[in-house]
Amino acid sequence: METRILGKDLKVTAIGLGCMGFSHGYGKPTDVDEAIKNIRAAYDMGYRFFDTAEIYQGTNPDGSTNYNEELVGKALHDVRDQVVIATKFGIAAHEGNGLKVDSSPETIRKSVEGSLKRLNTDHIDLYYQHRIDPNVEPETVAKVMQELMDEGKITHWGISEANEDYLRRANAVCKVTAVQNRYSMMYREYEDLFPVLEELNVGLVAFSPLANGLLTGQIKQSTFSDKDLRNKMPQFKPEALKKNQELLDLLDEIAARHDATPAQISLAWMINKKPYIVPIPGSRHLNRIEDNLKAAQIKMSADEVVRIDKALDAVPMSDVFGGTKIEKK
Ligand SMILES: NC(=O)c1ccc[n+]([C@@H]2O[C@H](COP(=O)([O-])OP(=O)(O)OC[C@H]3O[C@@H](n4cnc5c(N)ncnc54)[C@H](OP(=O)(O)O)[C@@H]3O)[C@@H](O)[C@H]2O)c1
Repeated sequence: METRILGKDLKVTAIGLGCMGFSHGYGKPTDVDEAIKNIRAAYDMGYRFFDTAEIYQGTNPDGSTNYNEELVGKALHDVRDQVVIATKFGIAAHEGNGLKVDSSPETIRKSVEGSLKRLNTDHIDLYYQHRIDPNVEPETVAKVMQELMDEGKITHWGISEANEDYLRRANAVCKVTAVQNRYSMMYREYEDLFPVLEELNVGLVAFSPLANGLLTGQIKQSTFSDKDLRNKMPQFKPEALKKNQELLDLLDEIAARHDATPAQISLAWMINKKPYIVPIPGSRHLNRIEDNLKAAQIKMSADEVVRIDKALDAVPMSDVFGGTKIEKK
């Protein structure tokens, strides 16, 4: 399996598994045993990089809480030393179903203990701040990360939806290994951050690399089951599906050249663009988990990547869910 190094020394597979969907975001959680079985099957296929978060939770049919970290911990317990587990702190569930950011040192301390317990491990390989907390300085968060490293509770840290200023300030206190930002053919805003990542030797873990499934070309509907966040995502609105057809046609064309699927091309395009980009597509289905991993074998020349970028610049596309615009200096 192709591997990459994030930051100075965190070795991961070129494609990681986004585990969120088993518990959170896409309707009812997967049956617990099946989710554990599928995450473990991903390991057997060759995945060695798994992404979860404290906030990824759902409700099981019996009313109990489905903690995504617990699924990951159970699935990988006996191969713990062979995998890189990334989890996140800093977003808490809030009254009325809302979310609130909180990266105060006391909250981080509580979070890390909870995550270690749910993951059933003594250390976290990559611990991300899930969202920037405007009330806490980056230096304060970075200092806590350094303490957690000194205590052996985490080995590396990162920031999700990081901007340049925050990243630079945090990195000056405690070396950042990776940022985890939204990045896909439909959302390329963070390309502006690439020179900074290169200068600081920070990796980019790309979340929602398939634009929540749109780039697979397999989603033709605008309505999803209850509690499925895609009901509210702009790229799946009926007018957006129409607008995005040319983009999907372009993907089909490239996929045919490589004897690949549009999902694989979406992942291969970013992997071939920069050696420090690692996408973490999420799927609950074994055949897709396997197909996505194979994207790491697709080779594209630098010229082809540039040609695809130019085509993406020209093709019409709808808005895509989420993401924060980079604050340009
Ligand atoms: N840091 C953050 O704030 C943040 C935010 C969002 C996500 N994430 C992380 O990033 C991971 C991935 O992001 P995401 O789930 O938002 O978006 P994504 O990976 O772009 O898309 C996931 C969706 O695509 C479908 N899919 C995946 N592979 C497919 C294939 N080969 N063919 C057809 N459909 C396919 C999945 O459906 P099925 O499950 O039905 O296959 C799922 O609905 C998450 O699991 C999570 O770990 C992080």
